[in-house]
Order: sequence, then structure tokens, then C-alpha cells
Amino acid sequence: MNDSAYLRCIRPACGATYDLNEQIYECKKCGNLLDVAYDWERLKPPESLAFFQQRWATRDRAIDHSGVWRFRELLPFAKPDELVTVQEGQTLLQAPDATALKIPLRQGRLHLQYEGMNPSGSFKDNGMAAAFTMARKLGCPRVGCASTGNTSASMALYAAKTHLAEGRLMQAIVFIGEGKIAYGKLAQALDYGALTLQVAGDFDACMKRIREATDRLGLYLMNSVNPFRLEGQKTIMYRVLECLGWEPPDWIFVPGGNLGNSSAFGKAYIELKELGLVPKVPRICVVNATGANTLYDLVNHRGLKWNNGNWDEPVAADKYAEMDAQGIKAKTIASAIEIARPVNLSKELRTLDAMNGVVCEVTDEEILEEKALVGKYGYGCEPASAASLSGLRQMLEKGVVDQGARVVCILTGHPLKDPDATVGYHTGLKSSGAPPTRTEPWGRSANKPIQVPDDLDAICKVIEENT
Ligand code: F0G
Repeated sequence: MNDSAYLRCIRPACGATYDLNEQIYECKKCGNLLDVAYDWERLKPPESLAFFQQRWATRDRAIDHSGVWRFRELLPFAKPDELVTVQEGQTLLQAPDATALKIPLRQGRLHLQYEGMNPSGSFKDNGMAAAFTMARKLGCPRVGCASTGNTSASMALYAAKTHLAEGRLMQAIVFIGEGKIAYGKLAQALDYGALTLQVAGDFDACMKRIREATDRLGLYLMNSVNPFRLEGQKTIMYRVLECLGWEPPDWIFVPGGNLGNSSAFGKAYIELKELGLVPKVPRICVVNATGANTLYDLVNHRGLKWNNGNWDEPVAADKYAEMDAQGIKAKTIASAIEIARPVNLSKELRTLDAMNGVVCEVTDEEILEEKALVGKYGYGCEPASAASLSGLRQMLEKGVVDQGARVVCILTGHPLKDPDATVGYHTGLKSSGAPPTRTEPWGRSANKPIQVPDDLDAICKVIEENT
């Protein structure tokens, strides 16, 4: 099986290939990112996506129940008995009432892919199932990542459940920016026993350091620069297709941070198209927060394009040099996507090219208002996730998306990940011991708790007056 799966440089002009078992994250010849590539001729993938429906009948088998591994023929880099799963990917495409959410799409056209329902509460579990499968195959005892919180929570969970061949558990090592991650996520890393290093710096600083530490100590790197992570995250798109009767939607909206998730979607569709398994490729909109808008600026203002793999690297280098010179750091309430130097930039450019994609930016206020609406109608997500809906609203207003289009927004993380942002929105207060930033609620959908005396008459009066 392994000869049919290998690592390949993403730049077609280089195209260097490496053995699957080489523990590398970039091309040794040209320094670009790597893909997991397959010899589809030899692997003989299914001729139709409907093939995967047979797995519904054998859900008592863990790998057929997993929302990642039931599609294993589309990420065939390991044998069935090597696959790591914690039953990730039991997520569904929700069909909310677009009118209630005040999204001007025709009824039935809006879908929310609720990835917050994963075991660690975010889409990252899809990628970890695949990356841990590889880490175990390689026999790596220590896995590491830099994180804005969800990658670390997910990695810590998988490490706490993954035994190496000799029986011992893996050890998770996480680098987080001090004061930069939401409490729900920090709580998970601590509870799952990860060695948690609070680095005096932001995510971008942590990312630089984890790569250096990985090189020095031989840790297995679990950030999305690891191409196996993206293999797992492709399956989010397969589940979307599954829920839509295997018919691709018109648009996918997804928040962009380190740009691993959206790049995985691009790879999924590039392969499905090549294999003749989809009639068309949807368009993608990657949504940045205005305070962390590197991709938006590079693509929309500096004209950066994939250009068949010959993308203009100095354009990005100039941008980073300018940011350094001006001391500009990423800053947004959507802490999950507070990233200034996305490691998957080049894969993202390929995705935008393959999916006729666009990039937009949305403000923190737009994100919080959208999050509150998503919560009010019973879905719920963390701030970064709501960026996908804010982006959709903007693209509808600009006429880029048609009101009749079939749209899927990815809700990437669970609402309990960042209770501070939610409580702060509704009450004006911070909940986790930090001093209050506001004394009055300010959100348009704010639902402030009402203080009442310990008195039944007074309590009933308040209920009658407010319902
Ligand atoms: N939404 C959430 C909830 C996230 O946690 C992230 C990324 C994204 C969106 C953006 O995805 O990085 O693939 O573009 N979180 C990473 C982390 C960076 O460390 O947890 P991306």
C-alpha cells in the first residue's frame, strides 16, 4: 500500500517525491509544502461516492462509524488496522431557517456544517485522526503543536488515547501564546494531560518556536503544516456531500486562520474532480477577521495568485517585512484565527485557484453579532466560526453570491470553547476572573441576566413581564 501513497512537493515545477515515512514537513529541494499524493491507478478508488453508503450498515465497526475513516478509500495512506479513531466526525449538515437568521438566501439554501460536535469540540479532530495514525505508524512518542487553542485541545485528547505499539501512551506538548487562548480550550489541554508551555508571544511566535523545537528534539509536528492533518480534514467535504445526496453545493464559506482547513477542502475537490466523482467544484469564500487579514490583503490588494505553483513569494515576504517594521500583530476577538503568518498560504492559493475562490474580511463586531444569531436559533459556535456567516452576509450584499445559491457555512468550533466572548457579549462582563471591560450589554441580540431578590412574588413578576 505504501508505494501507492507518498509525499510530493506542491509546486508542480518541482514535484519532488518522498517516502511516506519520512518525517518531513517541507520539500527538501525547494522548501515548499508537501501533499500526501496517491497513485490512484493502482489504488482503484470507488467509481461513485454512493459507494460509501454501504458503511452505514456496518457502523458497529469503529472505522466505519468514524466520519473520517468511513471515507478511507479517499485518503488511503494506512491499512485499516492502523487507523486511529476517537469516533470523530459524527457531524451533520444543519438546515437552519435563513429568514430567522436574517440571511437573504432563498428558503432551504442555507446549510451549517456543525463541526463543534466533534469529540474535542472542533473540526480539528478530523485532521488529528489522520495525523495520529501516521504518528503511531512512525512510532513517535512525543507530538507537538503551536495553537490558538483548538489544535492543542484536539491533539491532547488524541494523545491521551493513543498507545504506541509497545503499549505506552503518547505525550502531547503544546505551545500557546500567553493570554491568547480561550479558557475552554486551555482547560482541555490541561485536563488531557498535555505539557502546556505558555510562550511569551503570540501564535506566530509559538509556531516559529515549535518548528525549531521539533527539529531539535525530534517531536512529531501536529500543526496543519503536517500534510496528514489535511488528509483528515478533507472528509468534512465528503460529509457535506453525503448530506446533500452527493451533489456539490454552490458555495462553501469557511473562516481562515492558518489556512489548513480551507486548503484541505481544496485538495478534496481537486482529487474528487480528477477521479470524476463530482460533476462540479463549488466556489469557496475564505473569511479573515479584519485584525488578522494577511490572506485578504495579499490576495485582494497585492494580487497574489497561485499561478500554477509559481506564486510570487517576495510579495508575501514584503508584507511580512512591513508588518515587522510597523510592529503589526494579529488582533481579533476570534482568537482561533488570530494569525498573521498562515503556514498554508501557498496551499490556500492553490485552493482559491481550483475553487474559483474569493477572500473577504469581517469585523469583530460583525462576528459577535452573527455568533449571537447562530446561538439564538439553537446552533451555537465560537467567535471564529461565526466569521463564515458574516462573510456570507457580506458576499450576498455585494452580489457576489446569488440569493438562490446553495451555501454551506462551516461552524468550526463549539460555543463552550470561548465562554468569555459569549458572556461578555450578553452582559458586558468578563467571566474568568479578568476585570470587566464594559458595564452594560452592547450586542444587538444581548440577553442579559436579570437580578432578582429571593422572593417568589418578585420572581414571578419578572417572568410575566419578560415572556
Ligand atoms: N475556526 C476555529 C474554531 C479554529 O480553531 C481555527 C484554527 C480556524 C477556524 C481556522 O482554521 O487554521 O485551518 O485556517 N485554529 C488553529 C488552532 C489555528 O491552533 O487551533 P485554519
